[in-house]
Amino acid sequence: MTAAARPFYVPVGDEEQVFKAAFRQHLAVVLKGPTGCGKTRFVEAMAHDLDRALITVSCHDDLTTADLVGRFLLEGGETRWVDGPLTRAVREGAICYLDEVVEARQDTTVVIHPLADHRRQLPIERLGIVLDAAHRLTLPLPLAATAHQMFLQAAAAGHGGEDDSAVVKIFPGVELPGPAQRKE
Ligand SMILES: Nc1ncnc2c1ncn2[C@@H]1O[C@H](COP(=O)(O)OP(=O)(O)OP(=O)(O)O)[C@@H](O)[C@H]1O
Ligand SMILES: [Mg+2]
Repeated sequence: MTAAARPFYVPVGDEEQVFKAAFRQHLAVVLKGPTGCGKTRFVEAMAHDLDRALITVSCHDDLTTADLVGRFLLEGGETRWVDGPLTRAVREGAICYLDEVVEARQDTTVVIHPLADHRRQLPIERLGIVLDAAHRLTLPLPLAATAHQMFLQAAAAGHGGEDDSAVVKIFPGVELPGPAQRKE
């Protein structure tokens, strides 16, 4: 397999160095410029150079926080949490390109603030958790992500208020002792 070619981008000034310096210091970057000036192409080239996945969100005024962060979906008889593009980017350490972010309403973009400032955190209100981007800038942790998914499943099944060990209740075929069988 050959590595994907670098998207063709000719620097105009020192924007490549500036972007890479911002990346190393975990800073968000705002790109401003008229249509066709190369913003999208630039980000594609940077994602290639920095070996990061690029997740693009086309923002518009109907965009909701759930569109960015994620939502519970009904599948068959079950509820399943599905990450939004912003959450996926945090988990995977990808570059999240919020195209036309100025079009998004303020009540939507408010979720970006704690992620883009020094806190580097993405609060997911519906799950009652905070994902910490600062700890994810190296490698994703598949084990932690799997455990996290299991706790979400348990919460969706209505065991959220119980002890952490209630996660076992989502395993099919595990017979748990009822209160009568429990020994003191
Ligand atoms: N610096 C550059 N180097 C190489 N190609 C460029 C450069 N700037 C612009 N282009 C060319 O212009 C085209 C349009 O650029 P691009 O889609 O990145 O613009 P944009 O700023 O994202 O525009 P929009 O605001 O409409 O999304 C690209 O497909 C590319 O062919
Ligand atoms: Mg563009």
